[in-house]
Amino acid sequence: MKNFISVSDVPNIDAIIKKALQYKSNPLMDVKLGKGKRLVMVFLNPSMRTRLSTQIAASNLGMESTVFNVNNEGWAIEFEDSVMMNGDSVEHIKDVAPIFGQYFDVLAVRTFPLLKNKNEDYREHCLNQFIKYSGLPVISLESATLHPLQSFSDLITIQETIKPTKKPKVVLTWAPHIKPLPQCVANSFAQWMGAWGKADFVITCPIGYELDKKFSTNAQISHNQIEALKDADFVYAKNWSSYSQYGQMPSVDTQWMVTSEKMKVTNQARIMHCLPVRRNVEIGDDVLDNPTSLITQQAGNRVWAAQTILADILNTNFQP
Ligand code: CP
Repeated sequence: MKNFISVSDVPNIDAIIKKALQYKSNPLMDVKLGKGKRLVMVFLNPSMRTRLSTQIAASNLGMESTVFNVNNEGWAIEFEDSVMMNGDSVEHIKDVAPIFGQYFDVLAVRTFPLLKNKNEDYREHCLNQFIKYSGLPVISLESATLHPLQSFSDLITIQETIKPTKKPKVVLTWAPHIKPLPQCVANSFAQWMGAWGKADFVITCPIGYELDKKFSTNAQISHNQIEALKDADFVYAKNWSSYSQYGQMPSVDTQWMVTSEKMKVTNQARIMHCLPVRRNVEIGDDVLDNPTSLITQQAGNRVWAAQTILADILNTNFQP
């Protein structure tokens, strides 16, 4: 692949899951692949797991990695073309991105949505400006609408936990939160589940929180959480703000928190969350601290997801 922006960049999901599990068994098997190559990880927003797992992944491939936290360490970047830069932005992406191209071989970037204007966020302008002006292969570390490395890791986790004899029922449930969050994780998980196609996939959310249909076409949609959770094998809890009333929280029903009482209607489901999680707001302690929780395994698998994508990009773009 040239870039890794969404599941559309992946020709064969089963093949990359298999490769990721090979890296998990033998992390240094391609330690010479990235020798002499440099990765820059540009963060316009905070991160813990994405930053650390991708650095470890690069190291496992023999690559050097540099983290650049734009908001704390760099000059404020302007992303709109043809503007008079007499405000807070100090330099233009047109001037910044080609310099990454001079210093590095692969660029990874995190650009969250502002959640003010749906069209602005959903055109992925910031990410596209990095692609357009850097001239480098680009990996999304979470963009305005998608979080593909997280979804890849989620699918690795499901694959290694699944019972081979049964098509699993996977339920993505909206969960309450104290502030509006992006739709990225939910959009991306729905998109990957649809492309994978090996589960009965249900999305449950309160009325007003339906995702953009283009990401959720292959999902059953339910507004009844308990009905949706019945017989689930995997429950993925996540908050997201409204897509139709863009970036708003039309209602916050705290009854949607995932509790051990609700989990009783499932098929002893494993609980998933991308983290960070608001304990006792999104999911109860009694669920998160239960052995059925997969949250640490999901975060651990971020290394193998990132390593697989980096290796593919190195093979595609740099091998003779
Ligand atoms: N899940 C995830 O992307 O975590 P971070 O925001 O800490 O990177």
